[in-house]
Amino acid sequence: ISEIARVKNLNRLQIGKHEVDAWYFSPYPKEYAHLPILYICEFCLSFYPSPMMLSRHRLRCTMLHPPGNEIYRHEDISVYEIDGKRQLTWCRNLSLLSKCFLDHKTLYYDVTPFMYYVMGQRDSTGCHVIGYFSKEKESAESYNVACILTLPQHQRHGYGKLLIEFSYELSKKEGKLGSPEKPLSDLGLLGYRAYWAETIIELLLNNTDGELSIDDIAQKTSITHADVQNTCVTLQLFRHYKGQNMICLTNSVLERHEKARNKRRRRIHPECLKWKPPT
Ligand code: COA
Ligand code: NA
Repeated sequence: ISEIARVKNLNRLQIGKHEVDAWYFSPYPKEYAHLPILYICEFCLSFYPSPMMLSRHRLRCTMLHPPGNEIYRHEDISVYEIDGKRQLTWCRNLSLLSKCFLDHKTLYYDVTPFMYYVMGQRDSTGCHVIGYFSKEKESAESYNVACILTLPQHQRHGYGKLLIEFSYELSKKEGKLGSPEKPLSDLGLLGYRAYWAETIIELLLNNTDGELSIDDIAQKTSITHADVQNTCVTLQLFRHYKGQNMICLTNSVLERHEKARNKRRRRIHPECLKWKPPT
């Protein structure tokens, strides 16, 4: 029975004005598991079996943005910091929703050890969740992201990179290097590789104070030495020169970088982040 229960249960989800397919099993209560569509309140993330029940809820629901503190605002993008311990229900609902798009066996349903950083887009009707990442309050392995997700209706628009960029801005404020929790999903790895490559190449391009070492790059970006090293190997940036290992940008790397940069619409503006590491 438990084997059967792990097969993807839900088919589709309605979230605000979007309807999306569920990719994987999520442990919503049994009575919701075999509905053709699950209706989700886009603000409080509670779920309903019918459009009628959702609209009845919408009349009562007063939420217009994620809970917690708005710690970042630039143009129409906001980020809220949410303590899993203070917003149990909201964070559990977020976990249930995100499990629909995550194949991980170890998604944490105990939300209390985590902070949640939820990115939303504001318009006249409220602040609509685009994606989020969770972060352990205390990470022994210095992970700066536990789980990261862009809701499917917003994927491939650069928000994954924007969330990743945000996670490294938090690490910079903490004065720490950080890396995402392993194992990463295939999509997670693609997103991180793209971010690491872009960030390191950009740093090398804008660098005017002599040769940068792996350590210099790590300190300036908060990307761990291992992730910097692997990215440089993948991009084939190391060159042997007069008995030394040097980091060099090749034309093909620069061309690819130029393309990626032209696609990238949004950036994090660190001056708009009003945040101190939680104590
Ligand atoms: N196919 C190929 N490459 C892809 C891809 C896809 N479907 N989705 C993302 N990428 C790569 C691309 O290189 C892309 O950069 P590009 O568009 O400039 O080529 C890069 O990843 C980042 O894309 P971006 O638009 O910034 O990311 P996103 O908003 O789509 O979010 C994830 C990326 C990983 C957060 C998203 O795919 C997701 O939520 N997946 C499900 C949850 C998950 O697996 N999370 C990670 C494990 S915890
Ligand atoms: Na509510």
